[in-house]
Order: sequence, then structure tokens, then C-alpha cells
Amino acid sequence: MKTAIIYYSLEGNMDSIAQKIGSAHTADLYRLIPQKEYPTGRISKYFWAGKSATFGEKPKLVNETIDWEKYDTLIIGGPVWAGTFAPPIHTFLKDYSIRGKQIILIATHAGGGADKCFAKMKEYLKDNVIVETFQFVNPLTVKDPGTDKSIEKIQKLIARER
Ligand SMILES: Cc1cc2nc3c(=O)[nH]c(=O)nc-3n(C[C@H](O)[C@H](O)[C@H](O)COP(=O)(O)O)c2cc1C
Repeated sequence: MKTAIIYYSLEGNMDSIAQKIGSAHTADLYRLIPQKEYPTGRISKYFWAGKSATFGEKPKLVNETIDWEKYDTLIIGGPVWAGTFAPPIHTFLKDYSIRGKQIILIATHAGGGADKCFAKMKEYLKDNVIVETFQFVNPLTVKDPGTDKSIEKIQKLIARER
């Protein structure tokens, strides 16, 4: 039984969570990278990334095709942008019609919007079993003891699937 973590991260928060989950070598990691990465400048990121999320864009990705069918469990995660998933996640969900999988959803955010984001992701994942959702508030800067507990829980869920 195999697990893949498929995620997007602009500023490293989701990446830190994916790396921690993957540190037990229980999952293959795929970081989605747009052909044209969004700027990280304080103002420009909210303008360009926010606009892209609001308009439901699906940017082209540089990633090679992900053979999702060989996995039993997919962990799909990324930051909340303007109350929805980041556009590279949109591209992934739209391009790959995922079905028949156990799915764990993860969102990182600065304080809100995860539930709406999960609801939108679930619309694309109707033919799967959503095992659980997890959210983290800016884990790179906000020290929350709950973070490690959630990571452990995810690792246990993956182990149960193995
Ligand atoms: C364009 C943009 C829009 C955002 N919108 C939200 C939002 O609606 N709600 C929220 O809590 N955080 C929002 N954030 C903050 C990010 O979700 C948060 O910092 C996240 O942890 C970043 O993950 P990353 O470092 O993996 O990119 C936004 C960030 C950006 C760049």
C-alpha cells in the first residue's frame, strides 16, 4: 500500500509539513511547481497570487506526469489563497481525474478559509473517500504543539493504510 503527498507551497509552510510527514519514508513527495512561479514580494504576491486564485486560474505545471493510480492514499495539500485552494492545486485536481483513492486533505493558512478550501477540493474528489482533513496555521512561524500531534496522526493513518 503506497502513499503520495501531492502539494503546492509558495513560501515553505506546506512544504515543511510535507517534509515532516515524509521524513518517516512512508510516502512519495510531489511538489507541484508552476511554470511561472508566483512572486513572494509582500504586495505583489497578494496581487498576482490573489488574483489568480480569485479568477480560478489553472497555471501550467513543470511536473512530469504523476502516476497517481499506483498509490492507495493521496495526501493533497497547499495554502489557502483568498478562501480557496492555490491555483497549482486547481490545475492538479482538474488535470487528473482522481478516483477510487483514500484522500487526506491538508491546508496551511494564516487564520481562516480552510473549511471553504476543503469544500472546493472535495467537489473535485467526489469519487474518493476523504479520510480526514488537517489544517495548520503558518507552521513555519507559529509554534503550536498541535502541529506535531497532527503530523503523528497523519503518519499513523498512512501506516494503517500500509
Ligand atoms: C495570495 C494569498 C492569499 C491568501 N489568502 C489567505 C486566506 O484567505 N486565508 C488565510 O488564512 N490565509 C491566506 N493566505 C496566507 C497563506 O495561506 C499562508 O501563509 C500559508 O501558510 C502559506 O503556505 P505556503 O508557505 O506553503 O505557501 C494567503 C496568502 C497569499 C499569498
